[in-house]
Amino acid sequence: MKLIKDLSQREFDRVEELLTKMTLDEKIGQLNQPNLFDDKAALGDLVREGKVGSLVLAYSALAGTESRKSQLGFRQELQRIAIEESPSGIPILFGRDVIHGHRTVFPIPLMQAHSWNVDLVEKASSTAAKEAIADDIHWTFAPMMDIARDPRWGRIIEGFGEDPHLASEMAVAMIKGFQSAGIAACAKHFVAYGASEGGRDYNTTEVSDYTLRNIYLPPFAASVRAGVLTVMASFNDISGEAVTGSRRLLTGLLKEELGFEGFVVSDWDAVGQLIRQGAAADRRAAAAIAINAGIDMDMVSNCFIDHLPELVKDGTVSESRLNDAVRRVLLVKSAVGLLDLPDNRTPMQAPVYELNVQLAHDAAASGMVLLKNEFELLPLPVQEKKIALLGQFLNEQRSMLGSWTLDGRAEDVQVFEECMKQTAPELIFINAASGSADAAVEAAIQADVVIVALGEDWNNTGEARGHAGLLLPDEQLDLLCAVNNVNKNIVSVIFSGRPLIFDEVSQLSKAVLYAGHSGTAAASAAASILFGLNDPCGKLSVTFPRNAGQIPIYYNQRSAGRDIDNYYGKAVFKNYQDCEDSPMYPFGYGLQYTTYEYGKPEINKVDNTICVSVDITNTGKRTGIETVQCYASYPASEFVRPIRELKQFHRVSLNPGETKKVEFNIEINDLAYFAPDGKLIHSKGKYVFWIGGCSTVTESVTIDI
Ligand code: BGC
Repeated sequence: MKLIKDLSQREFDRVEELLTKMTLDEKIGQLNQPNLFDDKAALGDLVREGKVGSLVLAYSALAGTESRKSQLGFRQELQRIAIEESPSGIPILFGRDVIHGHRTVFPIPLMQAHSWNVDLVEKASSTAAKEAIADDIHWTFAPMMDIARDPRWGRIIEGFGEDPHLASEMAVAMIKGFQSAGIAACAKHFVAYGASEGGRDYNTTEVSDYTLRNIYLPPFAASVRAGVLTVMASFNDISGEAVTGSRRLLTGLLKEELGFEGFVVSDWDAVGQLIRQGAAADRRAAAAIAINAGIDMDMVSNCFIDHLPELVKDGTVSESRLNDAVRRVLLVKSAVGLLDLPDNRTPMQAPVYELNVQLAHDAAASGMVLLKNEFELLPLPVQEKKIALLGQFLNEQRSMLGSWTLDGRAEDVQVFEECMKQTAPELIFINAASGSADAAVEAAIQADVVIVALGEDWNNTGEARGHAGLLLPDEQLDLLCAVNNVNKNIVSVIFSGRPLIFDEVSQLSKAVLYAGHSGTAAASAAASILFGLNDPCGKLSVTFPRNAGQIPIYYNQRSAGRDIDNYYGKAVFKNYQDCEDSPMYPFGYGLQYTTYEYGKPEINKVDNTICVSVDITNTGKRTGIETVQCYASYPASEFVRPIRELKQFHRVSLNPGETKKVEFNIEINDLAYFAPDGKLIHSKGKYVFWIGGCSTVTESVTIDI
């Protein structure tokens, strides 16, 4: 697959030639994306008439929670009709939500972000793409890169957390993985959808241009630079401006300022929903507003197909805007090789899947985060001990996959109890056979160590799955309390999607492994970490609060006038009288089975590059991989800046006793920020750089620029 910039002159000419030959109706057809699960005969007729440019292979607006098979055979017949019987013979672009895996399911994107491992993320996406291509899918609606500062929002699991830099790196890795393997990616949801008030999905957002440009926009800008072929507009309004109808955002910011050359698809029915939002009086007006704003393809609302013919004829929508939208769609079709059909493609066979279990295991292990490990209870010994295995997630399969798993199968998922037993066959395992609380307590009494597998049901996470409270269900906490009364050697393993409030879990456990919804091989990865076959190395990509009342709480908050920066330690003024001010676990946090010592950071400037370096030594007894993080803070400037901001990170592998120098080369331009009007501001003065293993690192070094 190619990027648009890599298309040949012949390919550009071919698109122009098609445009000159196509009728108005054929052009409008290219902008129409119905749903595969509409009436079959009617769909066949629409394709025959040239009225289907793309199909969304999703059953409903809640594809992530209501998956259906993507009907390969039926689709192949539709494709045949498009090529052989439709007027222009242009093939259909099949789009599906291949979000974190296809048949092999990798960790939910939030867990992948905890790995900070861009190479692995790229590899997983490329594997997902290859499996999807075998299912004749050309386009995935991923990656989702909405910055999220509110774990109540169910869709926090689909993104990469709270930091613009980490999210940009992850988004680019996924795009490269998908597109280099051959399917078009989609940067979504443009823009600021993650700022939904109160974590209520589809809700209004109140975002200043300053925050938009510096926090929500960077992952999209990075995706455009990486050549992402499509972008999905978001459902929300921003300070009263419905994104789907915003020319300022879709054309001005995305296409003109960022230079995006692919096409913009609306979200599901979002063009029609402009009416409910109060941004359009009727469907005709909605179609006009959306296409004139910059939406190129209409996902399922039918507003374009029904109303564009009259709107173009009466001049409400210009022919040049119509041609621009069609050109963008055809260029993407050209990039994915669809315009070469049927010549360049052998007919699809029924796909044969081999699950990529090893890669799924590596990806799962890499994102799990060790939150607590008192008295080095972990790693567990593999001999001579009695281990009680308890908890609701001991034999859970479906939830391990997480939300947005359209083609993964629960029966492919490893079972945690079995994985524990297979990983350490010489241990004595005690199960609470009857599953009752009494049996669990009885098992805990006999054991040296108790492993409690807890978690969140997958169906409580994802789209339209907000949660006002962030505690584990009562029965799980009750079990933990009952076990704690008889045995303090508790290891809690938590298979949840969103960040939860772990105050009580942490108090009741000596060790806590945040294992997440980590896909097909979540269980073997967690078992391997517990026994030390894999070392935990994940670091949080989002802050875990102590109390839902602290939300929003995030590390890159702006500096205040009074001394209230309690995220980083004690400040003069307390934020809350009824709760600790600090987060439960800060951004960038994660323990390991080894320890590190950081030396004094050094800094110098060569031309326009600042070089910050530090020696890091593995002071423990095990080899480890540390994610070394470099944060910056700013001199006095026109706008109030974040207390600190992640600038770069490196993953470094260190043997016991080994010391390595880690260097960060930061361009002065990368220290600039955006004013609300988009102008870049380069502040002069004293910059402070922190290097360490967490956002709350205290070692710093300064330089005058
Ligand atoms: C979601 C999108 C998704 C689309 C198609 C919408 O409801 O917001 O993220 O890609 O459905 O399934």
